[in-house]
Amino acid sequence: MIIKNIDCLVTCKGSYKKTKDDLKDAGIIENGYVALEEDKIKAVGCGDGYRSYMSSQDVIIDGKGKTVTPGLIDCHTHVVYAGSRENELPLKLNNVSYIDILKSGGGILSTVRKTREASIEELIDKSRKRVDLMLMHGTTTIESKSGYGLNFDDEIKMLQVNKSLNELHPIDVVSTYLGAHAVPEEYKNKRDDYINLIINQIIPYISKNSLAEFVDCFCEEGVFTVEESKKILQAALNNNLQVKLHADEIEAIGGAELAAELNAVSAEHLVGASTEGIKAMAKKKVVAALLPATSFYLMLNKFANARAMIEAGVPIALATDCNPGTSPTESLQTIMTFACFGMKLLPEEIINAMTINAACAINREKQIGSIETGKKADITIFNSKNLNYLVYHFGINAVQSVIKNGKLVVENGNIVKGID
Ligand code: NIG
Ligand code: FE
Repeated sequence: MIIKNIDCLVTCKGSYKKTKDDLKDAGIIENGYVALEEDKIKAVGCGDGYRSYMSSQDVIIDGKGKTVTPGLIDCHTHVVYAGSRENELPLKLNNVSYIDILKSGGGILSTVRKTREASIEELIDKSRKRVDLMLMHGTTTIESKSGYGLNFDDEIKMLQVNKSLNELHPIDVVSTYLGAHAVPEEYKNKRDDYINLIINQIIPYISKNSLAEFVDCFCEEGVFTVEESKKILQAALNNNLQVKLHADEIEAIGGAELAAELNAVSAEHLVGASTEGIKAMAKKKVVAALLPATSFYLMLNKFANARAMIEAGVPIALATDCNPGTSPTESLQTIMTFACFGMKLLPEEIINAMTINAACAINREKQIGSIETGKKADITIFNSKNLNYLVYHFGINAVQSVIKNGKLVVENGNIVKGID
């Protein structure tokens, strides 16, 4: 397959964590081309250079008027769940806080009840529809967290859904265990027992059966403390799993510092992160996975300080946080809007943050995240004459086509039939 005459080819080249001014360089080639061979990128260049890669059986796509990017990577999602939480809207509008809704048995805990009731087939079916939407919006790889089971069987069930989705669907799914998402109701008065269950039984089982690559923890005032999170993540490291952390989403309690101390691959949210925490993350090059739609949806009147993080040298990534409570969206294009208008990020910084740096947040930067020879042929084609236009025209789905593993999986904005 060859994509030629591309008005704006955004390569995001460089398979490493981009920081500071490097984030402003999206490796843009005007009048570019990309040649694919099977599931890999064979050549990238400009002008007529593509002709030397042409053969008679090639599918040729015209990139006139298009912006072409690496397939988008959503490095933080909670896409596997049952039920929905629109009933929380009036509570939110009456200023009941997110943590107070959770403390009264709602929020995450209400999704836990629904997810426990659902069979594995029901969960696959519901999640698959959301993953379809992600693909239609230009996403080709996601990270997916458990965390709505909160007991042995239901957490393993969620991780098995991740595994099935990865096998069934063109999108690649990277699995994260988030048993420490909330203390389940049956452990309300014995939280240490729940933490011990996670540490002594669930984490070793997950590691032994390769059900997740990462372990995450909701380190937040009123949820899990820094000490508890440290204990859980240390157990993960001892079991050869890598760690991530929901850190300082609402209050600054030292989550960013903990992520740096443990050499976490990423720390996520960071709306309240302290200056010291940001410095510590920069020193250890912990990726900051920022989730601006969540700040908006929680009505925090505050976004993570992405500009300060970039200034300090933190590699930033952007993700949807797709979940039923704080960010019910599958679209990384929606995140572009909040990243630009809420966090004041440039279009080049935004696209690097949802491609190559997002790949770094899930340890996949050698395979995906940029349009370079030898990388996976995961590519998104937008109906947009340049990168600025893509961010400027908001609230629509600008995707024309998506190529996953060298195959056309979305055409004219619709999923190509029979791709599974
Ligand atoms: O990233 N903060 C914790 N977890 C999710 C929300 C989950 C939920 O409310 O269902 C988040 O915001
Ligand atoms: Fe989250």
